[in-house]
Amino acid sequence: MRLAFFISGRGSNMEVILDAIHQGHIPATANLVVSNKADALGLSTARERGIPSIFCDHRDYESREAYDHVLVRHLQDHQIDAVILAGFMRILSPVLIREFEGKMLNIHPSLLPKYPGLHTHQRALDAGDTEAGATVHFVIEELDAGAAVLQARVPIKESDDAARLSERVLQMEHIIYPLAVKWLAEGRIHWQGGAAYLDQEPIPEHGVQFSM
Ligand code: GRF
Repeated sequence: MRLAFFISGRGSNMEVILDAIHQGHIPATANLVVSNKADALGLSTARERGIPSIFCDHRDYESREAYDHVLVRHLQDHQIDAVILAGFMRILSPVLIREFEGKMLNIHPSLLPKYPGLHTHQRALDAGDTEAGATVHFVIEELDAGAAVLQARVPIKESDDAARLSERVLQMEHIIYPLAVKWLAEGRIHWQGGAAYLDQEPIPEHGVQFSM
């Protein structure tokens, strides 16, 4: 399976997935990295590892759709089978999402369906939640709303602020995202009619619950 990664920043999730590919844990190749930010740290990672990378500035296009058409063309040029969103801070249009239906994953730092969108850790703290977490899900047109694949829970501590909590959630992200991408590459997960399946069995609404 030929993978593309979409990033806007640090790219730590991408990096752990690249490591897992390199170590032979995921039957896939990383064939393209796309960033909408010129200074994304993940672009340097891609360069160091010899993965073709593209900086494509959304501000150069008059509409979301026009930008997404260009991304689709890059994906087609590199014969990409699946897209891994890893901190890509853009809302995608149907132009891109329909082209990769069931072949696009995202990781979101909350226990979806709770807290789609931004500032998830602060929102969990403000609500007095006792746990936070991360969810890998298939991407659909509605933001952070596609069928969940895999979810990890992290207890919230008295002493937590958003930074400390996000650090612990990120540690779990680095475990569950490579695992979900492995399932995708192995053909174990599917998306059909809005629902996600693992080994042909429907995945529960909140995703397979990860435990160590
Ligand atoms: C992660 O918290 C991820 O859940 C969210 O964006 C952040 C990306 O971090 N979608 P990184 O760029 O992978 O380090």
